[in-house]
Amino acid sequence: MLVDGKSVLNAAKAGHYGIVAPDFLTLNACRTFVQTADALKTPILLSFAQGHAGLISLEEAALVGKYWAEKVETPIVLHLDHGQDFDFLRRAIDLGFTSVMLDASMEKMEENVRRTKEVVAYAHSRGVSVEAEIGHVGGASEGIEGGISDSVYTTVEEARTFADETGVDSLAVSIGTSHGVYQSNRTPELNFERLRELSAAVPVPLVLHGGSGTGDENLRRAVRDGITKLNVYTDFLTGAMEEIRAAQTDSLIEIQKAEDEGMRKVLTHYIELISKTV
Ligand code: 13P
Repeated sequence: MLVDGKSVLNAAKAGHYGIVAPDFLTLNACRTFVQTADALKTPILLSFAQGHAGLISLEEAALVGKYWAEKVETPIVLHLDHGQDFDFLRRAIDLGFTSVMLDASMEKMEENVRRTKEVVAYAHSRGVSVEAEIGHVGGASEGIEGGISDSVYTTVEEARTFADETGVDSLAVSIGTSHGVYQSNRTPELNFERLRELSAAVPVPLVLHGGSGTGDENLRRAVRDGITKLNVYTDFLTGAMEEIRAAQTDSLIEIQKAEDEGMRKVLTHYIELISKTV
């Protein structure tokens, strides 16, 4: 069932559990994510990043995302991840995405507020939810960020003001994660104290980007201390490649099956890790 982001995330915040937001960049991954969520009877934010529009177009992502979301009973949010400009987000909304993220976190606060308000006005008048980011989750995530950048921690004052002024439905905060793989595969140190302060100060659900490689204990604690939505991307590529290598096959069909299976396992792991946490 295709639903908006606000209802799913507000229910999760009230229930103290997390919602996984996996990024798909193939039509197979889209199908696998929806079927996995449905098998576990757990909502997800089925996400497509603007940075991946060179691999599948926004139109294809919208069509296949809506098709699969509407085919199952489990609530599925079709979410546009890391939207970079108003025109792209407007197209996504017009094509049926039920949630969008504007990432203007590299801009100054005033510009981030101005651009976010523009998206909120358009999206809310069409029943679509909006996520924005304050502070900056850096790192390198192929296609998503389009480059390497440093993280800037979110301050409590900025987050509170930003949420008040923009009317966003959820807010991505920076507390120590980064996009992509961590150096030497070390798990990052998260600032849980800052997270608890942010959670107390900001009324809307908080979002953690850069979920891959963060470590199960960190993520469980992050959800306990105030994170509602968890974005994951890189771990799906790693999980798929591991399954493909293990299959030791030259058959393209078997490779495709292994890729689907790898992604299914990774999503199952993250859903069981955070969506059942109370
Ligand atoms: P990872 O690739 O580190 O999981 O980050 C994903 C993400 O935050 C997408 O928005």
